[in-house]
Amino acid sequence: MKVLFAVSECTPFVKSGGLADVAGALPKALARLGNEVAVMLPKYSQIPERWKKRMRKMAKCTVAVGWRQQYCGIEHMAEDDVNYYFIDNEYYFNRDSLYGHYDDGERFAFFSRAVLEAAKAVNVQADIVHTHDWHTAMVNYLLKEEYRKHPFYEQMKSVLTIHNLQFQGIFPPDVTHDLLGLEMDHFHYERLECNGFVNFMKAGIIAADHVTTVSPTYRNEILTPYYGEQLEQVLRYRENDVTGILNGIDDSFYQPKSDPYIEAHYDSEHLANKEENKTKLQRRMGLPERHDIPLISMVTRLTKQKGLDLVRRIMHELLEEQDIQLIVLGTGEREFEDYFRYAEFAFHEKCRAYIGFDEPLAHQIYAGSDLFLMPSKFEPCGLGQLIALQYGAIPIVRETGGLYDTVRSYQEEEGTGNGFTFSAFNAHDLKFTIERALSFYRQKDVWKSIMKTAMNADYSWEQSAKEYQRIFEHVTRSGRDVLE
Ligand code: GLC
Repeated sequence: MKVLFAVSECTPFVKSGGLADVAGALPKALARLGNEVAVMLPKYSQIPERWKKRMRKMAKCTVAVGWRQQYCGIEHMAEDDVNYYFIDNEYYFNRDSLYGHYDDGERFAFFSRAVLEAAKAVNVQADIVHTHDWHTAMVNYLLKEEYRKHPFYEQMKSVLTIHNLQFQGIFPPDVTHDLLGLEMDHFHYERLECNGFVNFMKAGIIAADHVTTVSPTYRNEILTPYYGEQLEQVLRYRENDVTGILNGIDDSFYQPKSDPYIEAHYDSEHLANKEENKTKLQRRMGLPERHDIPLISMVTRLTKQKGLDLVRRIMHELLEEQDIQLIVLGTGEREFEDYFRYAEFAFHEKCRAYIGFDEPLAHQIYAGSDLFLMPSKFEPCGLGQLIALQYGAIPIVRETGGLYDTVRSYQEEEGTGNGFTFSAFNAHDLKFTIERALSFYRQKDVWKSIMKTAMNADYSWEQSAKEYQRIFEHVTRSGRDVLE
């Protein structure tokens, strides 16, 4: 099958979050299953020179953005059996950040049309166009409403994957005509309109042949008002065409057995080496070098979604009462960055905050820590807990979305579980759960068995890629039999 990915970020070229990891790994996994896979993404100025040097210009075309005709260059590069096409337009993509510009609506209206135009220009006649989040959701809509009328696109089906429903691409009504080039009758509640605005995500949900999201639990959650971000009605309308498929991780990149960024390689049979990573991490961060002290870490965007309100509420008490160390790595909302800077100042023997992002350090934190904190308010899938499990850093998570699907709380009677979980979004439930985990940390045999359970499971993409494949086959044949 021919699959065309349209996505706004993709590792190893350019990344702001977990979406890029998925876009980096899933196409390769689909190619391994025998599909012909192409990925299209913007040629941002942030893409490192070493990749830009390898790109070859293949074609150019013009793309309509309302009444304007914009230049669209198409540059190509092949890697790991995947064809990458970079959509070049300096005006839209030579900016100081990927997102957050006053004209994001225009930038991604352009990109969405550019994907469809470029497909034709480089002759990628895909069976499936697979889009991701609001930035490319308009591809699904334009394909259905406009492009499928032309023979080249007639047979193309589309799948939209929701990675985070919180961001929807909401713009004023005149965007319908001025940027998307559609007649105003598209601004209608059965089409683009949502609460008086144009909503790219909603348009994609309505138009896609199938909608997926990144875990089975998040799939069920977004059908409810609490998690539905005001799109629960639309999602319920498409309920039979919405599937949750868990993300994997790229287990050649996140691999304690061979990770080039870490001090000592290890697996579940050689846990002593993990200790070396802990010592090295403590030294690098300037914390007391102690084997016996539980080291808790967070590697995360510092945003409300990640449950940082809860962490901030209890961290002082915890650091005062317990003999622990805490290391935080991430950037995000100012209030949380400031909080962790303050915690480092107030608990200098126990806490370090690295406000920024550093890939090698992230790996060293996963490898060096005993516990990994992720008490998210909502979590479509979450990659941090999967990496932590793989590295034997035992996760403490709230039971939501993908966290619920991947972390099972330790049960002392049966000796089962790979982490510690709590359910209500409540700071003291989090604190209690951390204390519970610490009590087992002190029982060395128990802790070892939890680490083994965590590290011996399979978090690779293989299984998930097969599930996507099933969806693709279902929508191309439109036969219900395939899914049942
Ligand atoms: C978003 C979600 C995260 C998910 C990632 C990749 O960043 O917040 O939960 O893991 O997308 O799908």
